[in-house]
Amino acid sequence: MDAISVIRAKRDGGRLTDAQIDWIIDAYTRGEVAHEQMSALAMAIYLNGMDRAEIARWTAAMIASGERMDFSSLPRVTTDKHSTGGVGDKITLPLAPLVAACGAAVPQLSGRGLGHTGGTLDKLESIPGWRAALSNDEMLGVLADVGSVICAAGDGLAPADKKLYALRDVTGTVESIPLIASSIMSKKIAEGTGSLVLDVKVGSGAFMKDIEAARELASTMVGLGTDHGVRTVALLTDMSTPLGLTAGNALEVRESVEVLAGGGPADVVELTVALAREMLTAAGLPDADPARALADGSAMDHWRRMILAQGGDPDAELPVAREQHVVNASADGVLTTLDAYAVGVAAWRLGAGRARRDDPVQAGAGIELHAKPGDRIVAGQPLLTLHTDTPEKFGYALEALNGGVLIAPADTRFEPQPVVLDRIG
Ligand code: URA
Repeated sequence: MDAISVIRAKRDGGRLTDAQIDWIIDAYTRGEVAHEQMSALAMAIYLNGMDRAEIARWTAAMIASGERMDFSSLPRVTTDKHSTGGVGDKITLPLAPLVAACGAAVPQLSGRGLGHTGGTLDKLESIPGWRAALSNDEMLGVLADVGSVICAAGDGLAPADKKLYALRDVTGTVESIPLIASSIMSKKIAEGTGSLVLDVKVGSGAFMKDIEAARELASTMVGLGTDHGVRTVALLTDMSTPLGLTAGNALEVRESVEVLAGGGPADVVELTVALAREMLTAAGLPDADPARALADGSAMDHWRRMILAQGGDPDAELPVAREQHVVNASADGVLTTLDAYAVGVAAWRLGAGRARRDDPVQAGAGIELHAKPGDRIVAGQPLLTLHTDTPEKFGYALEALNGGVLIAPADTRFEPQPVVLDRIG
């Protein structure tokens, strides 16, 4: 077997055999296939796609490149959620302890942010003392004691994906349905969860800009999970505008704590409860009541225990950025657009996100939204507050917002997008 014949087969529009897929994933993981060869193959896959059987084999080969976790010793059933990533998407933070409060175990292996979408670990690291890196034994211990854990995936889980994702990131080959589906599902299946709910984002702030592409990604991932014995469903959810009223690490933790305290923005509460219901149903606990667990404080209790178990102080003051800049409305009317991508890029430029994998992030940086699409606006009222420790970035962030905030005349009819657009599975 050699890399050039595998690349040529896909470049010429053919399908890869099982043996070719097994060999190339294994040889790339071991360093025998060079990065330039794998990037040529990733581009050929990006351009020519893979059929269902190829995607299934590619996913299985990536799972086989590393270890599989085993939670069978836990007394509770495991269930997990994965979001394809969006702006202001802090849902994992209230969701994991909420589902634990309802009786399931949630082993959340999360990532850091890259580009305009935030990362769950970056958000939680704004809590003083909180630790993302846990050994497998520590992770099992927190799961057994608290019922939920959110931590970094160890190096042993789908190492082929770790290498390939970093390569795709710098070769313009991220946005490929076969590569995204196999990347996400190899990690989730290797993680060993019993069931999985996928939150597939649709809109300007998401990988998938239109609903048809999102449906195809969702049904590919649901098929992969089901074939591997993991009960999997997907919700397609709106990412044309940021979720909630904050984008940025500590800002999003603060909003998540509001949700756990029984308040918080309506869209964040709606999506958290919808995903919790799906997870509990997939886990065989359809009668659990997540809305009640938010209202009666049991979800908050699990959050506090989860943060403490990972070294964090749930009562500590969260970091606040040194400088703020308020953007006021330029006219009366109705807010028709608050574009998720524009807000995500602006928050990133303020320091909330990173351009390279090892860049630091500012805990306090980001954007607070004072209005949402559909709201009536009066000229001069605050629309956004920008937060950063590096005020020289304000101009650069404001440029990103150009055209992303639109106010139409007050008599304009505005149809709000539902939070949940569709369900697959
Ligand atoms: N998230 C992943 O883990 N992989 C992708 O390819 C895209 C998003």
